[in-house]
Amino acid sequence: MHKPADTDLPLAVPIRDRWSPRAFADRSVAPDVLRTVLEAARWAPSASNQQPWRYVVARREDGPAFEALLACLNEINQRWAKHAPVLMLGFAKRTTPQGKPAFYAHHDLGAASLSMAIQAAAMGLQIHQMAGIHKPAMVETVGAPDDFEPMTTLALGYPGDPDTLPGELAERERAPRTRHRFDDLFFAGTWGDALPADP
Ligand SMILES: Cc1cc2nc3c(=O)[nH]c(=O)nc-3n(C[C@H](O)[C@H](O)[C@H](O)COP(=O)(O)O)c2cc1C
Repeated sequence: MHKPADTDLPLAVPIRDRWSPRAFADRSVAPDVLRTVLEAARWAPSASNQQPWRYVVARREDGPAFEALLACLNEINQRWAKHAPVLMLGFAKRTTPQGKPAFYAHHDLGAASLSMAIQAAAMGLQIHQMAGIHKPAMVETVGAPDDFEPMTTLALGYPGDPDTLPGELAERERAPRTRHRFDDLFFAGTWGDALPADP
């Protein structure tokens, strides 16, 4: 299934085509494809180029390692994410190289995850990010150092058939994608003033 964004203006194709599926095809992700998606995160921008993201990755073929990552998700997310061929746990570094709080690490982890999602979409795959997770379990499961904060989990794979999902999730899979209105998000010079439609 595909759910391209119904955009007001034409966008770059992988940005238009990226979405967050819950149904994944029963198709594994080849190691070089996985590495290409991860490479997109490596080249994401970050404050002072600190690259504060870390991801722990497991493929379903990995058996116990995949099951251990899956167990870090909440019950609702596990219901569909157990069929994804790849899971990743995302961590953000808490401190800068100077030992100060890394205020932009969450922001930069998000940028890295979105870079991966766009790269995945360009290659016919999709990523579904999740915050419905057990953070202490993430740390314990992978042995993350204290300086890394557990933040998100990502499912990666080829989109599948919504009919494979349990009832309510199948309905959500088919629901239209929505966004706030353009003029509610972007302002011209002063808060609340609409940008001209045709500058
Ligand atoms: C940080 C973050 C956390 C999210 N957590 C969950 C989650 O726990 N479970 C879930 O099903 N979707 C989760 N999502 C997916 C969002 O619901 C989804 O991105 C949003 O509805 C927009 O849909 P789209 O990505 O298809 O455009 C999360 C997305 C982000 C970026």
